[in-house]
Amino acid sequence: MASERKPDQGLIQRLSRKIYQVLEIPFIYDLSQEIFSIGRKRALKHIERLLAENARGRILDVGCGTGRYAHLFESNYYALDINPKYLAGKSQKRLQFVCGDVTLLPFKRETFDFVFSIVIFHHIDMESMKKALKEIASVCKSEAIVVIVDCMLPENVLDIPARIICKLDRGKCIKDRRTFEDALRVDFNFVDVHHVDYSYPYNFYAFTLRPKQGAAGVGTRG
Ligand SMILES: C[S@@+](CC[C@H](N)C(=O)[O-])C[C@H]1O[C@@H](n2cnc3c(N)ncnc32)[C@H](O)[C@@H]1O
Repeated sequence: MASERKPDQGLIQRLSRKIYQVLEIPFIYDLSQEIFSIGRKRALKHIERLLAENARGRILDVGCGTGRYAHLFESNYYALDINPKYLAGKSQKRLQFVCGDVTLLPFKRETFDFVFSIVIFHHIDMESMKKALKEIASVCKSEAIVVIVDCMLPENVLDIPARIICKLDRGKCIKDRRTFEDALRVDFNFVDVHHVDYSYPYNFYAFTLRPKQGAAGVGTRG
């Protein structure tokens, strides 16, 4: 029957769901990130360098996970994630971990000098991404720098390994580069766009941005 679920599809989907649930456990998530990092050390080093180079003033890490990049910052570091399990017990005097949603940031406007977001937008649909970008722009000071790194759909449709990775990833909203850039362009000016080498079969891009005049500080919060 046409409406019947194919046994293989059902199995893969059920297995993926189980894996995604297990990844909610911080220890398992960290372990998976370590495994994921094998062969990608150079890509991660590039991201760390980009963050260290742009670090200034008050810093916000949006979608921080368990805080993989917190060690780069000694103070004035705020990190936000929607998953409270990833944040439990992390806050210290100079490093604040806050549970919240990137589409409704719990910060006053014009609070941050540097905002970054590493691989969260492929978890978020287009409408939420647009809201999130407006929120990020609104908590930026006018001279702030924003760095966004994320994976894009493979540019070559025949790149089968990359397409399989995109299909299996926990983030179900991987976008093509043009769509992603068009969304960024609404609230930000581009300073730099860089393909992150050694990220294959993922297709990572790093965007360095500045909030557009009028976008920074414009928000619904007080
Ligand atoms: C792939 S992880 C990346 C974590 C971290 N940035 C890193 O590079 O290790 C994506 C993170 O985005 C978070 N996330 C997903 N949707 C979110 C939302 N709407 N608001 C805030 N965080 C979100 C998830 O909980 C997860 O920790």
